[in-house]
Amino acid sequence: MTFFVDNEIVEKVRDASDIVDIVSSYLPLKKSGSNYVGLCPFHNEKTPSFTVSESKQFFHCFGCGEGGDVVSFIMKRENLSFPEAIKLLAEKVGIEIEEKEPKDLIKTEEKNKGYEINKEAARYFFNNLKENAKVLDYLYKRKIGNKVIRQFGLGYALDSWDALYKYLKGMNFKDEEIYRVGLIGKRAKNEGYYDKFRGRIIFPIIDTKGRVIGFGGRVMDNAMPKYLNSPETYIFNKGNHLYGLNLVNKLSDRKRIIIVEGYMDVISMFNKGLNYAVASLGTALTERQARLLKRYGEEVYFCYDTDKAGINATLKGIQLLRNEGIDPKIIFLGDYKDPDDFLKDNTIEDFEEKMNSAYNHVEYKIFISKEKYNTEETEGKIKFTKEIAKIIKDLKSPIEQDIYIEKIAKDMNISKEAIEKEVFGNTKKAKGTTQYKKKTIITPVNTSLPLASLTAEIDLIKFMIFDRDYYEEIIKEIAVEDFNSLECREMYNIINRLYEDKEIIYEEQIREEIMTVENMDIQLVKKVFSKELKFSPNNVNHMIKDLIHTIRTNKLENKRNEVKLKIEEMEKNKNKNYLEEKLFIELCMELTNLNKELNLIRHEEGR
Ligand code: UTP
Ligand code: MN
Repeated sequence: MTFFVDNEIVEKVRDASDIVDIVSSYLPLKKSGSNYVGLCPFHNEKTPSFTVSESKQFFHCFGCGEGGDVVSFIMKRENLSFPEAIKLLAEKVGIEIEEKEPKDLIKTEEKNKGYEINKEAARYFFNNLKENAKVLDYLYKRKIGNKVIRQFGLGYALDSWDALYKYLKGMNFKDEEIYRVGLIGKRAKNEGYYDKFRGRIIFPIIDTKGRVIGFGGRVMDNAMPKYLNSPETYIFNKGNHLYGLNLVNKLSDRKRIIIVEGYMDVISMFNKGLNYAVASLGTALTERQARLLKRYGEEVYFCYDTDKAGINATLKGIQLLRNEGIDPKIIFLGDYKDPDDFLKDNTIEDFEEKMNSAYNHVEYKIFISKEKYNTEETEGKIKFTKEIAKIIKDLKSPIEQDIYIEKIAKDMNISKEAIEKEVFGNTKKAKGTTQYKKKTIITPVNTSLPLASLTAEIDLIKFMIFDRDYYEEIIKEIAVEDFNSLECREMYNIINRLYEDKEIIYEEQIREEIMTVENMDIQLVKKVFSKELKFSPNNVNHMIKDLIHTIRTNKLENKRNEVKLKIEEMEKNKNKNYLEEKLFIELCMELTNLNKELNLIRHEEGR
């Protein structure tokens, strides 16, 4: 059963559950110094490495790495979800939980309806395919076998305006429900609905939980558009998914993952027995997808189309992954258009050979620049070398820099010193450290800022400008570091400065000043000044409080995500040394504390 417990209860249960008591009811614990130890319930062991800290209300096993607070202990031990674990703990410590029907539950039901419709549609498309020799023939001609047709649940949308619509109506789904998952469109003048996918081979898009979230459909001739995709819906957010990830999740050993451009590329790879390829869904790679890649493969390979668009997308993708701390490799297929095209003429072993000689990101950039310029001629050679110098300058490691400088010097028959000058300028000390610092600062804080939080920051800034009294209240509660947006931080500082010797300040003054600051997002700044603050004097205090709350929560959430990422990263390393182990525990504790703090402020503000 799904149910919902609010944060107040969570905190109450947490506070009442002593971890030593609870754990002792599962296994004998022995006091050892300031901690308790026992045999780990999560892995087989003969000497106790399972440690429970009473003061920190935290457990950790030095043998298998499991760790957490009392709730996570119950979740792991009893294999329960978070609310279920809270419920069990509540029973153990005698706290009564009233179960609520939250708004979220209705949302879940709505979503389940969407998944259900999509599943029925996918089934319908799949059955159509079996009966259409012409379509099967097309797939066979493209060397797609029955096994992958089944694996990917490929299908066919009949060349009809309402076959699917009628079918789904026959299953008692409502118009609006079918419409909302993007399978049908509304006819003009309210005259009913029509099927969006007609006469197309269907590629269901399935998430890692096995739910059909959307569809792609390819024409079988030269009609346009070649591929039609489901629109973004309440259950389909393209940037959050990768085509094929459901199968990678099931089949791959997660050592390597390849990102390709198209549906057919993924399918061709699986068709030939390679089970770790995915595609982004007809859009540029997103940060979220970059993180998925990181999670599903120790090594990430790009194998986009070899055309100009593919190269540009690769260069952008490299940057995105590097922002996530991953150095991707790049497979280049030469004269072949894409992996599917390559696999028509070649075996998977040939492909693996290409993969083993894949470029790293510097080599790839060098390779691409070299293609761009004719380095046989002096002018091309100069342009090429200058471009490479910029790439080398951006490298973090001085050793790497040195290696590539040497390589380019040899390749281009230019002196090493000349290239060094081009890279570092004339001052030798510019090398290394300064560059490193600069790079670490450029984490894109702004871009990932959730809209609600950004809006709150903007509104708060506006209140600060609006009235000195509000300003005084706000700066008591919130410091410049609490703002996530660079622009808002700048404005905060400017406002502070202006109020130093003025009672009243004006938006124009701030606008003028901020425009002279480098690297500001002008669009955002404009937004601040074009927005109108709507409030009435009797709700203003409440509003300001809310805004502060949103910003604080967001800051904690960001921090929590950071810590979580670090923990995930460290979890990969099974043979941690003493210091790493210590750091790991500290991070886990920090996470627990952040969670507590978040729960607390949510609860404090009555949410
Ligand atoms: P391509 O045009 O490279 O197609 O688009 P492809 O994957 O090689 O397909 P085949 O081999 O001709 O069958 C690459 C990807 O871009 C998206 C699709 O996700 C496609 O797989 N795309 C392309 C669209 O979304 N719409 C289009 O009209 C074309
Ligand atoms: Mn193709």
